[in-house]
Amino acid sequence: MHNVSTLPLHINHLHVTRKGNLLLCDIDYSIDTAGVTVILGPNGAGKSLLLQVAHGLVAPDEGDLKWNTLSPHPQQSWRAFVFQKPVLLRRSVRANLGYVLSLHKVEKSKHHELIEEALEQTGLAKLAERNARVLSGGEQQRLSIARAWVLKPKVILLDEPTAELDPAGTAAVECLIETIAQQDTKILMTTHDLGQARRLASDILFLHQGRLVEFSPAQNFFQQPQTEAAQKFIAGKLLNGGQKK
Ligand SMILES: Nc1ncnc2c1ncn2[C@@H]1O[C@H](COP(=O)(O)OP(=O)(O)O)[C@@H](O)[C@H]1O
Ligand SMILES: [Mg+2]
Repeated sequence: MHNVSTLPLHINHLHVTRKGNLLLCDIDYSIDTAGVTVILGPNGAGKSLLLQVAHGLVAPDEGDLKWNTLSPHPQQSWRAFVFQKPVLLRRSVRANLGYVLSLHKVEKSKHHELIEEALEQTGLAKLAERNARVLSGGEQQRLSIARAWVLKPKVILLDEPTAELDPAGTAAVECLIETIAQQDTKILMTTHDLGQARRLASDILFLHQGRLVEFSPAQNFFQQPQTEAAQKFIAGKLLNGGQKK
């Protein structure tokens, strides 16, 4: 079993308000388990916002958040964020990976091995010399995950990683996420796709109207949802989780 006891995330009574709207309300939880934690909920529930807060891209108005690194010198690459729409360099797949390593000042002598490993593990080895911009949507998303993974982070955060993909691309990306989680990397990801959450999640953070209404192991969540909102969502009856106006 993986030891992620050194990387729990604590979020304490966190609020985010924009333009008078309370977008995230009293979010309070800790994650200290390995595997895939899925932030699930209907469109507009606040999933992407919560993920951005978790990565430090958006500051909360109230409350606080702490990634508990017991490591004395946490690297900048300790966690990595993968956006919904990949933004790739107009260069080869290999060069895209090399660029990230240079950006994070990883020693040149280590580049070759790290790149080869990432190419291999993401199934992109055959496409290494191809221009990233001509890859299929699924391949581009795998490359953007590879760019995160090449840094060997402890945590990868992914925002709706398959929202733009067809079923084959989705399957390949889900397979990659599973592979990563089986190694020593924690996954924290958002999705509005119930099927995807069922396939991937070890535990679920269910958001509705900016509130964290359930946080439980995936099996419990799907078998015995505790709230009406989660019951409706699982039954396919709750499609809009936007803020109350
Ligand atoms: N920077 C922002 N300023 C104002 N409103 C925002 C901002 N970011 C998100 N929102 C609003 O917050 C709500 C949640 O957004 P989001 O996190 O993108 O939802 P989800 O990812 O669950 O679909 C939406 O109503 C959205 O319009
Ligand atoms: Mg979103």
